[in-house]
This record gives sequence, structure tokens and C-alpha cells, in this order.
Amino acid sequence: MTNTSIKSLIRTIPDYPKKGIMFRDITTLFADAEGLREVIDSIAGEFQDKNIDVIAGIEARGFIIGPAVALALGVGFVPIRKRGKLPAETIEVEYELEYGSDVIEMHIDAIKPGQRVLVMDDLIATGGTALAALDLIEKAGGETIGCAFIIDLPDIGGAQRIRDRGVDVFHLVEFE
Ligand code: PRP
Ligand code: ADE
Repeated sequence: MTNTSIKSLIRTIPDYPKKGIMFRDITTLFADAEGLREVIDSIAGEFQDKNIDVIAGIEARGFIIGPAVALALGVGFVPIRKRGKLPAETIEVEYELEYGSDVIEMHIDAIKPGQRVLVMDDLIATGGTALAALDLIEKAGGETIGCAFIIDLPDIGGAQRIRDRGVDVFHLVEFE
């Protein structure tokens, strides 16, 4: 399956969750067995030789692909969640969204100092969420080796902001 076929499995909902946003919906891609397999294999293939110790997935859609790639790489999975959802002691970072602002948290002991981390989410827009995840991992003493997304919206510039921090960004498809 090509990246063009992966792209054709992603559904676009205009004006969701508010007017002017073209929402890129990956549920249609995940519902397709071949599409799901291709996404996981491509991301795992990209990072298999990079000595990743753990994948940190961002709520909510990073919880769908993150554990699947973690299984493929034979590593563990750590959740980065919206505020108030994690039961033990957390560290937190506030961030801006394409449509609002929020706080994300991670358990303070989820990542051990020196661990090599791959950050995963479905999509990067402004990069605010992923940059906040990088801050959390840094606070915990981890080293972010890369960030992987299914979709990049390059016109918004988030992936470039991550690269400017010296972290590799991998994505499968782009939308304007
Ligand atoms: C979406 C998406 C990313 C983030 C990308 O999540 O899944 O996490 O926005 O935007 P950014 O690069 O501008 O930060 P959303 O905040 O809609 O949360 P959800 O997955 O819990 O619905
Ligand atoms: N998160 C931020 N922007 C988005 C978009 N255009 N589609 C889906 N998720 C998003």
C-alpha cells in the first residue's frame, strides 16, 4: 500500500470541531485492516534501528497507534494524558492547540533518566502538543529520539518547530 492509498483512507470533516478547521479523521484509516497494518509497519520500520526504549503516546489518538508500534518494536508504552486523568504523581506542561489550549501530564516515574523515547500521535498541526510532550520527557530526564505522526499539516509549521529543537520528525502523509 502506498502513502497515497493511506491518504485516501483518511476522511476529512469540514468545520469540525469549529468553523474553518478541516478535521482529518483517522478512524476510517484504522478501520481498514490493510491501512492499519501499513501505518504500524511503516512507523516501526523507520525506528527499528534507533534503539528506542519506550514509546510515549499522546491522548487520545496516540493511544491507538502508540501501543501497536510499541509491540512491533518490542518496547513499552507510556501515556501522556490530558490533565486530571493519571492516578499517581505527575509532571505537567500547558500548551496551545490549533483550536484552544490545554494541559498534558505524565507520571513522574514513567520515563527513567537516559531512556530513548519515541513520541507518537496521529497528527501534527502547530506542534504545541508534541512540543509539550518533549518538555515532559526532558523534565523526566528522558531523551526524545524522534516524533512520529501519520499526518503532518506542513503549512502550519509544527514539524519544523520540532526539528528546530533538534528532534527528528517522521510522518506518512501531508495535507494542506
Ligand atoms: C489533536 C491531535 C494532536 C493535536 C495536534 O488532538 O490528535 O494531539 O491535536 O495539534 P497541535 O500540533 O496543534 O498541537 P486533540 O487536541 O484534538 O485531542 P484528542 O486527540 O484528545 O481529541
Ligand atoms: N488536531 C489539530 N488540528 C487538527 C486537524 N485539522 N484535524 C485533526 N486533528 C487535528
